[in-house]
Amino acid sequence: MRLKPLSKYVLKCPRCGYEVEPSPYIMRCPRCGELLDASIIAEKIRIKWGELRGRGVWRYRDLLPELNGVITMSEGSTPLIRLRAYPNAYVKFEGANPTGSFKDRGMTVGVSLASSLGVRGIIVASTGNTAASAAAYSARAGIECMVVLPKGGVAKGKLGQALLHGARIVEVPGTFDNALEYVLSTVLESGSAGNASYYPLNSINQWRLEGQKTIAYEIVEEVGVPDYVFVPVGNGGNIYAIWKGFRELMELNIIDKMPKMIGVQASGAAPLVKYWRGLGEARVDKPSTVASAIRIGKPINWYRAYRAVKYSNGFFIDASDDEILMTQRVLGREGVGVEPASAASLAGYMKALREGVIDPSNNVVLIATGHALKDPDALLRDSVHTVSISSIDELKALIMGRSIIDV
Ligand code: F0G
Repeated sequence: MRLKPLSKYVLKCPRCGYEVEPSPYIMRCPRCGELLDASIIAEKIRIKWGELRGRGVWRYRDLLPELNGVITMSEGSTPLIRLRAYPNAYVKFEGANPTGSFKDRGMTVGVSLASSLGVRGIIVASTGNTAASAAAYSARAGIECMVVLPKGGVAKGKLGQALLHGARIVEVPGTFDNALEYVLSTVLESGSAGNASYYPLNSINQWRLEGQKTIAYEIVEEVGVPDYVFVPVGNGGNIYAIWKGFRELMELNIIDKMPKMIGVQASGAAPLVKYWRGLGEARVDKPSTVASAIRIGKPINWYRAYRAVKYSNGFFIDASDDEILMTQRVLGREGVGVEPASAASLAGYMKALREGVIDPSNNVVLIATGHALKDPDALLRDSVHTVSISSIDELKALIMGRSIIDV
């Protein structure tokens, strides 16, 4: 039976073409095992693009699963900020979401769905942001949340959020790749989560990604279709979701061209860059980078991310930890506070400009995936430049002596 909330979709295998009735539980192709696409059936979509009402993710409810009583905290409608240093570049500041990352867009859909299924709770493996978001949204829904994290591999702000929102925190040895394996081996038997009392909401879950595709819709509403969209890539779900959003607008004749999707990875955790260059499988065994959010060696959505980049005529590029941290400061000096992983998109853009791969006259959108406060240690990495004084006169002398905006 076709579940009403999902009746505008068909699940399609991008590899073997097999089609399955949409279900919250089926994520992999029963025939070949590839992750399924939740494809919209264009004839069933009634959206009137010029007449959308409301704000945030659910503004696009006509293109999302039809759920009653959604669990929402006004996620989405994030600022698009034009950079002073690069006038043709806009930063999509996802740090402005309720828990400080783009994950909230996915969780509002994923947790609403989980909640409607009557499961006991949700479960995720995470480098931190997914955990923080899952914890907050399940708390709102009044269901349990279990997060499985790489021990010692999660930034403090994110761990604190998971604690604050009452998630059950389980730490495992190794990297995120190990944590994900624990989760998927437990709740996803042969691609189906049918009997699990904890519903899996990693980015393998196509319904969660439906929320994330709204990043593309917002960009189109605000500035039209850019030439390039730069996205930091870890597991590869987000770049795919954004590409899917643009593709749907093409299918519905709302836009008439696609942006090129550019995937940026940290040099020490760049399995997709490796694959793109023809240097073997999309995996590295010991991922290592200061950008802990994207410290991932075996991206579960690698084929999704690869398709997004290949079919949009984009490319994958890497940025070193030094470049990422420097770029984080460049954004900081423009008033935009992002965590290291998020700085990767500007780092990738700057590198692409330097290498002459793209032209400064091209319009670009850089996805800044998470807030600076997520990773306080990264902010305090450099020796802190403070001046200690103990009298008002000393402050007066300082103010007279030099500009207080001295960077
Ligand atoms: N940027 C940030 C800040 C992230 O937290 C993540 C992923 C990404 C980029 C990459 O997105 O995996 O869809 O390619 N964080 C996940 C987590 C893995 O557990 O929070 P992706």
